[in-house]
Amino acid sequence: MVKELARPSASLRKGAAPPTAWAFLSGKYVPIGEARISVLTHAFNYGTGVFEGIRAYWNESQRQLYVLHMREHYERLHRSCKIMRITLPYSVAELGEVTLEVVRRSGYREDTYIRPVAYKSSELIGVRLHDLEDAFTLFAVPFGTYIDVDRGISCGISSWRRTDDNAIPARSKITGAYVNAALAKTEAQEAGFDEAIVLTQDGHVSEGSAENLFLVRGGVLLTPPGTDNILEGIVRTSIMRIAQDEGIPTQVRQVDRTELYVAEEVFLCGTGAQISAVTSIDHRPIGDGRLGPITARIKDIYFRAVRSESERYRDWVTPVYPGSAGR
Ligand SMILES: Cc1ncc(COP(=O)(O)O)c(C=O)c1O
Repeated sequence: MVKELARPSASLRKGAAPPTAWAFLSGKYVPIGEARISVLTHAFNYGTGVFEGIRAYWNESQRQLYVLHMREHYERLHRSCKIMRITLPYSVAELGEVTLEVVRRSGYREDTYIRPVAYKSSELIGVRLHDLEDAFTLFAVPFGTYIDVDRGISCGISSWRRTDDNAIPARSKITGAYVNAALAKTEAQEAGFDEAIVLTQDGHVSEGSAENLFLVRGGVLLTPPGTDNILEGIVRTSIMRIAQDEGIPTQVRQVDRTELYVAEEVFLCGTGAQISAVTSIDHRPIGDGRLGPITARIKDIYFRAVRSESERYRDWVTPVYPGSAGR
C-alpha cells in the first residue's frame, strides 16, 4: 500500500500562502484553498504559461503597502502572452484592479509578492499552442528577501546555458523556461555558491538564474543587451533611470565572461532579488571583495523609491489601501 505523506516542514513551505490569503481564478475572487486546477491542465503538463513577479513594499511610518511598477509588469505580461499566443481578456488597468483587490482581501501589511499567471488551461493531452483555452489566475504571498541584500553574494558561472530566443524566448516570462533557471540555481548552490550567472549559447554573459546583471568597468555601468537572451527586466530599467539621474555613465553592450572577473563591481537585480552586490565570481573577489560605491549608491536610492520615500520616483508605486494611510 502507498503511504500518505506528512505535511512538509516549515522550510519547505517558505514563500507559501497563509490560509487567509485570497486568489483570483477564472474571473472570481476565491479563498486560496479554493484556487485549484486540474492535473490535466495543459500548462501544468507542458509549461505553457506566462507569469509575472510583482513586489509590494510595506511602509511602516505611512502604514501603507505600495505595489511597485504595476503597469510595467502588466505591459510585459501582455507582451509575453503575444509571443505564447495566450489571450488575456483583461487590460493593463483591469489587471491592476484585480491585483489591488486580491492584496486588500488578503489584508497584507508586510512586504508581499504578487504572482499573476496567464496559461493554457485546456484539460487535454497534446503539445501545441493553438486551439486551446486560456485562463488567468493571481495570488499574493508575504515575502521578505529572496537573496540576501545586505551581505555580498558569491556566484559561479553555470555549466547550463541560457535558452536562446529561437529555442525558448527569454523575452517572454514563460513558466516552462524556468527549468533552465532551476537547473542553474541548484547547480550553483550545490557547488557552494549563492547564485548562478548564465552565459548565452555563444558564451557571452546573459544574466543571473532569475536576475539581470550589471557590472562596473572604468567607472562605467554596463549591462548585457536584450538580444543576449535576458528577461528585459523592470528593475534593470529602473536602475538605468537612477544611473541617468545620478549622472553615472551607462552602456548596454555585450559582456565577456572574464570582464566579470576584472570588474570593479558586479550586482544582480530583479523583483525577487532586488539589488544584490556580487562580491566573488568563480572564487575570484570582485573589486576588493566588498560592496562597491556605485552599487551602494544605486541600492540606497532604489530601496527608498520602492517604499515611496522618494518624491522623484513616486510614480513607480501604487498604494494598496484607500486614503493616504493603510488601515
Ligand atoms: C530570468 C530573469 N531575469 C531577470 C529578472 C528580473 O526581472 P524584473 O526586474 O522585471 O523582476 C527575472 C525576474 O523576474 C527573471 O526571472
